[in-house]
Amino acid sequence: MRFKLRILLSRIYHLFDRHPGHKYGDGIYIYFYNKIRCKVSAGKGSYADLISVMANKNQTLRIGKYVSIGRRLNIIMCGGHNLRVISTYPFKDKISYTPFFKKELREPAYELGDVTIGNDVWIGDDVTIMGGGEIGDGAVIGTKSLVTSNQKLKEYGVYAGIPAKFLYYRFSPGIIKELKKLKWWDMKEEIIKNKNYLLYNPNIKSALSELKKLKKRNDGA
Ligand SMILES: CC(C)(COP(=O)(O)OP(=O)(O)OC[C@H]1O[C@@H](n2cnc3c(N)ncnc32)[C@H](O)[C@@H]1OP(=O)(O)O)[C@@H](O)C(=O)NCCC(=O)NCCS
Repeated sequence: MRFKLRILLSRIYHLFDRHPGHKYGDGIYIYFYNKIRCKVSAGKGSYADLISVMANKNQTLRIGKYVSIGRRLNIIMCGGHNLRVISTYPFKDKISYTPFFKKELREPAYELGDVTIGNDVWIGDDVTIMGGGEIGDGAVIGTKSLVTSNQKLKEYGVYAGIPAKFLYYRFSPGIIKELKKLKWWDMKEEIIKNKNYLLYNPNIKSALSELKKLKKRNDGA
């Protein structure tokens, strides 16, 4: 009875949940600055507390499958200011919004590049990723890290700091090679649902061999 009441209360709570973000995929809430809606793709199972994105309309944020994102991820894909002219003030972007400037003078904010986050990535709290950043499958980014513009984080690497520095690989090169081939996130949802205990089994070698068998069956199906 108490359990049912708790479920009911949580449903009521979600009815009134005025989350400011836009929902993508299974559980990705994204808050856009300046009402800019860039293209977003978020894969199955991925979740985030809240992501702030600064981007132009034509830009794309790609988030893979089964990505875990901590609180307050900040993605800066545009909005850089030119340091090689007299003023860093973005005149064309700001003043052109007043009636004294013609609409044609407006131009999109200075772009840094798109951001791509691979599959099965874990991003800690308060991380910032600059435009052009690419996060490889299975990588981990420590809390308060800064992934600088065009930085590429290797698959299954652990990174942290400002700028994010490589700390170590999660597994031996042999295991990483197998995991890169396996791409478990592309297996049928049914298999992932029923056999996900293999994905958190500390005996990696035996879990891997089991998953490989399942993949064979999955591919053959
Ligand atoms: C990155 C992380 C996963 C590494 O964990 P770990 O392997 O147990 O790392 P350790 O604590 O052993 O630290 C290893 C080294 O990395 C450094 N380090 C770890 N986290 C760091 C961070 N966020 N920024 C800078 N350096 C960091 C440590 O100082 C240590 O450096 P040293 O080898 O020179 O002494 C962890 O520190 C982290 O940031 N987790 C995210 C937590 C979080 O945000 N949770 C909430 C959202 S789910």
